[in-house]
Amino acid sequence: MNRDVAVVEKIVSGGWGLFRYNKEVYFVNGVLPNEEIVFKENGKAKGINWAKLIDVREKSQDRVEPFCGYYGVCGGCNLQHLDKNRHSDLKKRIFKEEVYRTAHEVISIDNYYQSQFEESRFKARLKVNNQGKLGFIKKSTNEVLEINNCPLLLNKINHFLERWNREVNLLRDKIYEVFVLFNYESNQLYVHFDHAPKEELLSQIKKFPKVIFTWPGRQEESISQISVKGVKYWVSPCLFFQNNVHLWAKMIDCVDEKLSEHKTICDLYSGVGFFAPVAMKKSEEVFLVEASVASSKLAGKSFPQAKIFGMRVEKFRLPKAGALICDPPRSGISNKVKKEIVNNRYGEIVYVSCNSASFARDLRFFLDEGYRLEKLDILDLFPCTAHYETVALLKYNR
Ligand SMILES: C[S@@+](CC[C@H](N)C(=O)[O-])C[C@H]1O[C@@H](n2cnc3c(N)ncnc32)[C@H](O)[C@@H]1O
Repeated sequence: MNRDVAVVEKIVSGGWGLFRYNKEVYFVNGVLPNEEIVFKENGKAKGINWAKLIDVREKSQDRVEPFCGYYGVCGGCNLQHLDKNRHSDLKKRIFKEEVYRTAHEVISIDNYYQSQFEESRFKARLKVNNQGKLGFIKKSTNEVLEINNCPLLLNKINHFLERWNREVNLLRDKIYEVFVLFNYESNQLYVHFDHAPKEELLSQIKKFPKVIFTWPGRQEESISQISVKGVKYWVSPCLFFQNNVHLWAKMIDCVDEKLSEHKTICDLYSGVGFFAPVAMKKSEEVFLVEASVASSKLAGKSFPQAKIFGMRVEKFRLPKAGALICDPPRSGISNKVKKEIVNNRYGEIVYVSCNSASFARDLRFFLDEGYRLEKLDILDLFPCTAHYETVALLKYNR
């Protein structure tokens, strides 16, 4: 086997370690800056050289023992080997570099909010293996890794996982995905299957009389209410809701602090209405636009005063409004929507993003169209991974 030695230069977007070898740039997982590593070339795709880590010869002083037994095998986390106190510096630097590389802007970060690492997620989207055991996708494969305990999940979900994987065997009844939500206010666990169960699965779920199981056609039974800052939201295991329970209130505050008062506010990509209470506090008229009809129905149930549109933003004719809240999926805002936004010259845009690459691309677009970046906060909603959330305020320069 051909093994080589190199020193890691830095960690880049996605949590990859970057190093140079024979005048070429390589990316490798599981390393930290300045570590001397032994690696093996692992192919080239779309002009990018990948390497496989064989050994860390000289360890960084920021390297720690991961707290999850599945770390390194499970495809979920990739930064657990970094000291918890070093995550904010690393993520801030990765973010600034990404924005500089894509938007050619040097930006400052006003606030950084770190979440507690363990027990932060109240929902999980699990995969199912051939025996009906639950888990996540194994790193760099399509295989399902059976997981009995994920420290990032609330404990009640782990108790369920451990018991399900110990007691359930499914030989014929195929389900592929299972969505779990623990409503800690009502102390109720909800489990939603991607397929309607047949006899074998129906008999197995009888072992869990306290759990509410649902499947397509029975989603109505999976909804429950959970409160954030005193406001009750309808949530469901199979619909989007911000997953980090410890930063819910802070995330809403970050949007609140940036929005001024207006007659009309339009919340695009509104989900079940997470930011609707802020928009309603700041304006007389609120539009919520969301592609998932099921999510927009729940938003309507929670916030009947708002004008709800269950459709893609691309199909929606954007109204006159003083401000926009935009919280798009990872792909960011499409060109069509960006053009409509700048044509309408909204005075304020609060842009919430979970992907710094698409955020940086969209930021460049808005800056070129006369907007300026006024404030930006980072919330580490996804500890142990290279992901994080940003909340930015853009104002139109009249
Ligand atoms: C990151 S989530 C944000 C949801 C909500 N703002 C929240 O904080 O809970 C993005 C949302 O955009 C929706 N979505 C994705 N593409 C969309 C589109 N083209 N038009 C409208 N909504 C879309 C998704 O269904 C999802 O609910």
